[in-house]
Amino acid sequence: MRSIMVLNSKGGSGKSTIATNLASYYASQGKRVALVDFDPQASSMEWLAARPVGRKSIIGIDASGGNMRMPRNVDIAIYDTPAAVRGKDLSNYLRRPQSIIIPILPSPIDMRAAIPFIQKVLANGRVARRECRVALVANRCRENTNVYHQLSDFLKKVRKAPFISVLRETQNYNKAADRGLGVLELAPYLVRRDQDQWQPIIKWVNSKRSQPVNA
Ligand SMILES: Nc1ncnc2c1ncn2[C@@H]1O[C@H](COP(=O)(O)OP(=O)(O)OP(=O)(O)O)[C@@H](O)[C@H]1O
Ligand SMILES: [Mg+2]
Repeated sequence: MRSIMVLNSKGGSGKSTIATNLASYYASQGKRVALVDFDPQASSMEWLAARPVGRKSIIGIDASGGNMRMPRNVDIAIYDTPAAVRGKDLSNYLRRPQSIIIPILPSPIDMRAAIPFIQKVLANGRVARRECRVALVANRCRENTNVYHQLSDFLKKVRKAPFISVLRETQNYNKAADRGLGVLELAPYLVRRDQDQWQPIIKWVNSKRSQPVNA
């Protein structure tokens, strides 16, 4: 089973947005997808509850109590995680996935918080041994702003974790979330740019670079 976790201790960085969009992408590819929500806030579970009958189905697993049981024959598990994960909780989360995506917002507060967080993730044993691979995504970006350039310069400098894509700030994410859809399930003319920005993420999650070296 393939497993991908979306993780950042900072609240509101886009974890649930990226988790639900990844789940919808894999479902559209005909995969049996489990969307596992560790967050008591349950944004991913609410997204799934809003998903229209007739769209490719996704299995929802509420893991907010900390425990979960993976159903059989799941091709891919997408893990959404809560904010403020640190210390022992962080180590426990890092035990689970093959791949981790860390979304980061272009704001001074988010960037400052990201520095020690990324360091801690990269210092984890599984990550250091490349049993778990990490990538960085800039989220809610407006490319002509100074703060976006600061974020992009910072993420390019992180060694040991590739900076794989920049997602723009767009209401498409809210429109899609409202309806239990991924942005790539909205009308194609609305989401051409978003489609282009998701391509490198999809390429990474489908590449060996995102998978354990010993797999
Ligand atoms: N690229 C984007 N453009 C516009 N809005 C976005 C984008 N990404 C996320 N959002 C919005 O920002 C808000 C926070 O995103 P999200 O819930 O995915 O973050 P989170 O990291 O899961 O938050 P939490 O830490 O509370 O779980 C949501 O309202 C979401 O719709
Ligand atoms: Mg969330």
